[in-house]
Amino acid sequence: MADPNWWRQAAVYQIYPRSFSDSNGDGLGDLKGITAKVPYLSSLGIDAVWLSPFYPSALADGGYDVDDYRDVDPKLGTLEDFDAMAAALHRAGIKLITDIVPNHSSNRHAWFQEALAAPKGSPARERYIFRDGQGPDGALPPSDWDSVFGGSAWERITEPDGTPGQWYLHLFAPEQPDLNWDNREVRDDFLKTLRFWSDRGVDGFRVDVAHALTKDMTHPLPSKAELGTEGELLDGSHPFWDRDEVHQIYAEWRELFNQYTPPRTAVAEAWVHASRRARYASPEGLGQAFNFDLLLADFDAEQFHAIITKNLSEAKHSGTSSTWVFSNHDVVRHATRYGLPKGGGRDGQGGKGQDGKAWLLSGGTTPELDIELGQRRARAASLLMLALPGSAYLYQGEELGLPEVADLPDADRQDPSFFRNFGVEKGRDGCRVPLPWTVEGKSFGFGDGGAHLPQPEWFGAYSVQAQDGDSSSTLELYRRALELRHRLQAAEELQWVPSAPDVLHFVRPGGWQSVTNFGAEPVALPEGTVVVSSSPLADGKLPADSTAWIA
Ligand code: BGC
Repeated sequence: MADPNWWRQAAVYQIYPRSFSDSNGDGLGDLKGITAKVPYLSSLGIDAVWLSPFYPSALADGGYDVDDYRDVDPKLGTLEDFDAMAAALHRAGIKLITDIVPNHSSNRHAWFQEALAAPKGSPARERYIFRDGQGPDGALPPSDWDSVFGGSAWERITEPDGTPGQWYLHLFAPEQPDLNWDNREVRDDFLKTLRFWSDRGVDGFRVDVAHALTKDMTHPLPSKAELGTEGELLDGSHPFWDRDEVHQIYAEWRELFNQYTPPRTAVAEAWVHASRRARYASPEGLGQAFNFDLLLADFDAEQFHAIITKNLSEAKHSGTSSTWVFSNHDVVRHATRYGLPKGGGRDGQGGKGQDGKAWLLSGGTTPELDIELGQRRARAASLLMLALPGSAYLYQGEELGLPEVADLPDADRQDPSFFRNFGVEKGRDGCRVPLPWTVEGKSFGFGDGGAHLPQPEWFGAYSVQAQDGDSSSTLELYRRALELRHRLQAAEELQWVPSAPDVLHFVRPGGWQSVTNFGAEPVALPEGTVVVSSSPLADGKLPADSTAWIA
């Protein structure tokens, strides 16, 4: 009987398909490439894979611009390849979570094309958010709102008769028109999509921009000066972020998920105020929500302690398990962030992103980068995370200690946030460079052709081949930790052990202990057997920027 709670303490490995493994040498990773690497995933000891979008797409936003929600991008394979990949993962005991992108389709989606060809006020336009422009000839956008990637959140269309026409809302790129979730047809179509993939054996869903679906577009629209910042408001009053009605949608999804055995799971990507996160994570809703607090924190004992304590208590309160994450396809890799001065880590440029956004949209070169420090701290932080109750989300390449590729040539960049900010923000391509599998060779074993984002010369030294079997490598550290995690995993509880200010020490039920030294001086470890440590012990003591487990 399948365990309905498998997700609660799962280690979930995010695959960004275009950059994982390329089976046909066209420079883009693909589904067959993933299937070929199932033995590797198995050797890593993860419980589930989360697959970023693999749907037909022009890749205006790395696949988060979906042309067809119920198919596979021909550049990545076919539905048969998908089934073969899912079967191979399942045979290896690995669950499959797919990304679902409900806030917007792509502008190539059949619905949007239909809307462009249809007249103003038609049912086809009602699936999106079309409005007349302001000013006598409607030449000004309906409001002054900015898109997340920069520039206006509105784009003007040309009407079928060739005249300048209405405007449509796109909170992200212009190639990502926002869907109208007040429209029952949109809701029903997504239920169909969720059923389509669930029937194909998908075990769960990662829900993109889960907090933006429902919108209050009542006229007159407020100006941006009147809007609060994403994640700041507590009352659901923002016209598009985190409105209360969004939970009606997820209640319907939950009903559908619960018709499966085991119930399908879901995790919300919701940039909301911490006090409102539980609504997304409730068992009547999506069930789990990303908590990005550790990702946004410095490598600092006090910050980590406060974040862990708060999130565990909130998760318990709302009947879910906590989630932890340091890296994903939207942020500067944590091996690099932690090599930057404190407070400057998240945006990769040494400046503090106060608004929770700056980290997302940049990633330039940084003169102050101390890569060895970054590596050491990333290993320590990841080992700490893997000892926490709840689920750990890992991003492909972090198990190799892979740093950000900060100095990609501008000509090779793909991220819309780079283009829409006129190159001032470097964008997210630096964490999306195809993985190095071998020390040498064409695209370091990624495939027989090139790599769609250029890999730097130093990539080979971080490859799987370079680290495989080397007990001091980051890869072997992750393998050992994930294997121990399976054996030691217990109830979702943690008890803090009083310790020095720069040290975090906790015990899990069954006696599994984790100690992290955030300070500069080595510290003594408690009695017991050290089963894994992120750096070699120095005279039996735990060195600076290190974690050890005792069992
Ligand atoms: C995804 C991004 C994407 C955006 C728009 C985010 O939350 O993680 O990669 O650009 O949604 O779909």
